Amino acid sequence: MAKVIAIDGPSGAGKSSVSRLVGERLGFLHVDSGALYRIMTWQALAHGVATADPAAVAAFAAEVAIDCRPEDGRIAYYVNGEAPGNRIRTPEINAHASEVATVKAVRDRVTALLRGLTRYGDLVVEGRDITTAVFPDSPARFYLTASAEARARRRQKEEVEKGIANQSAEAVKASLLARDRMDSTRQYAPLRKADGAFEIDSSDLTLDEVVATVLAALPADWRR
Ligand code: DC
Repeated sequence: MAKVIAIDGPSGAGKSSVSRLVGERLGFLHVDSGALYRIMTWQALAHGVATADPAAVAAFAAEVAIDCRPEDGRIAYYVNGEAPGNRIRTPEINAHASEVATVKAVRDRVTALLRGLTRYGDLVVEGRDITTAVFPDSPARFYLTASAEARARRRQKEEVEKGIANQSAEAVKASLLARDRMDSTRQYAPLRKADGAFEIDSSDLTLDEVVATVLAALPADWRR
C-alpha cells in the first residue's frame, strides 16, 4: 500500500516548500491539493461561472477535465493539455478560491482525484483537509502553522519573486486572513488541527529545521 504523508495548515505556513523537500528526501511524490481548488476557480472564472453561487459552481465542478501525471517528483496537472502555471496564483484567484472550496461537489471531486493518486506511489500531500478528511488514517499527519505576520511576509516575497503581484505586506495579510477565516469556518471539511496530528509552528524555524522535524517524526521504517 502506498505511504501518504499528510500536511495541513493555513496559507503561507510553508507547506509547499516543506512538502517538496520532504518528498525529495524520501522519493515521495509531492501533491499540492490547493492547486486543484485553484484550477477549479480559474476555470469557473474563465467560463463566467459566478463563484459566489454554490449551485452554479457545483453544476460546473464535473465539467473541468483535469489530467494528473507524475512528473519530476511531483504530480503535475493539465487542463486541456495546458499546464496552468502562475495563472492560478494571481490575487484574483486568491480572492475566489476559498468560496469555490466551500462547495461540496468541488470537494468531493478533488478528494476523489487525490485518493486516486496513490496509484502512482508514495505521496506527500499538502492542503487544508488532508489530515482530517482525505487521508485521515495516515500514520504521518502534520499541522504546520506560523504567525500571520510571518505567513504574510513569506507570501509577499514569493509573489514579488515570481513576478505574480506587487502588493503591500498589509494587503497580503488581509487577503490571507480572509481566506483563513473562510477555510476554517466552512461547513464541509474545514481547516482544523486533526486529533493526533503533529503540530509544528514554523514562525521561528528555518525551512531545514521544519523538514528535519517532519522527517524525525515519521514512522521509523519510512525514513531513509
Ligand atoms: O493552499 P492554497 O492557498 O493553494 O489553497 C487554495 C484554496 O483552496 C484555499 O482557499 C484553501 C483551499 N483548499 C482547501 O479547501 N482544501 C485543500 N485541501 C487545499 C486547499
